[in-house]
Amino acid sequence: IKQVKLGSQGLVVPAVGLGCMGMSKWAGEYDIYGKSADENESIATIHRSLELGGNFLDTADVYGPLANERLIAKAIKGNREKYLIATKFGFEVDDNEQLTGKINGSSEYVRKAVERSLKNLGTDYIDLYYLHRLDTGTPIEETVGAMADMVKEGKIRHIGLSEVGSQTIQIAHAIHPLTAVQSEFSLFERNIEEIGIIDTLNELGVGLVAYSPIGRGFLSGEILKPEDLPENDSRRGMPRYQGERFFKNIELVKEIKIMAEEKSITTAQLAIAWVIAKGHVPIPGTRKVKNLEANIASAEIVLGSEDLDRLESIVPLGSDVGARYDEAGMKMVNL
Ligand code: ATR
Repeated sequence: IKQVKLGSQGLVVPAVGLGCMGMSKWAGEYDIYGKSADENESIATIHRSLELGGNFLDTADVYGPLANERLIAKAIKGNREKYLIATKFGFEVDDNEQLTGKINGSSEYVRKAVERSLKNLGTDYIDLYYLHRLDTGTPIEETVGAMADMVKEGKIRHIGLSEVGSQTIQIAHAIHPLTAVQSEFSLFERNIEEIGIIDTLNELGVGLVAYSPIGRGFLSGEILKPEDLPENDSRRGMPRYQGERFFKNIELVKEIKIMAEEKSITTAQLAIAWVIAKGHVPIPGTRKVKNLEANIASAEIVLGSEDLDRLESIVPLGSDVGARYDEAGMKMVNL
């Protein structure tokens, strides 16, 4: 798989990474993508990512909490230096490994969270460390200043932020150069393009890591009616995929699917290839070797400008496809 520069601080990553969130429960409560992942299959998926060169793993301490980092530790044991590991902190996890419901970006918490992630990941360095959500009660200067100290101490190599706006990015970047910002970005979620955040990233030379590039599975074209989602699947509660919206948005997916079929690729591959063609690094989430292989193969798909025009006329910039999170979730997105 081809390798690309992520930002301008020297980090080189595969054109497609691997999102590991779905391999563990979210916040100890539920499985984001329906029925629990099979641990052996998840580990096999991580190993296959290395064989195919797509060895850029994305995790966070809140996944589990902590279980996802521990799973990765198990999978990479003996091969740590062959992987690039990105993890995140900020959803506060207390000493009993419970979520407090707060977001904590204080300097003391940065240190505590880094040490805990290093321990759980079974490593002495993290390739890319993100603030998961902005702590509106702590100046971003304090948070990034503490992250910069962690870089000086060799505990983390690169700094990132997630789901923040242009102003926060500019302030943070002046304190310590950011390598990447992670945001939801797909044919169904182009808000950061619409409101100029991508322009800010380009001006500063900060990379964009795109999560949910398959629209949480909907852009795979395999979910065509609400019953296709398992009972306990968190996607049933997402505004974008509820009620009338579900049917409206699935009509768009069907058009994308027709285009993918013409190209003899899968709908998920077309969705991922679009993110790559836009110049970003997608990290599709999967717990299955087969899907990982297909996702990595998307890096070879070349889309011309007429392909991009066609896709972007199916879901034009500014389309109202519904909010991606419920109200509580949207409150934590500070664009
Ligand atoms: P996120 O970044 O939030 O994980 P995503 O990458 O847009 O979201 O989508 C993840 C969903 O797409 C998961 O339900 C995943 O299911 P598996 O874990 O069972 O693979 C699904 N998915 C990932 N790759 C896929 C592919 N190539 N074809 C079909 N579904 C896929």
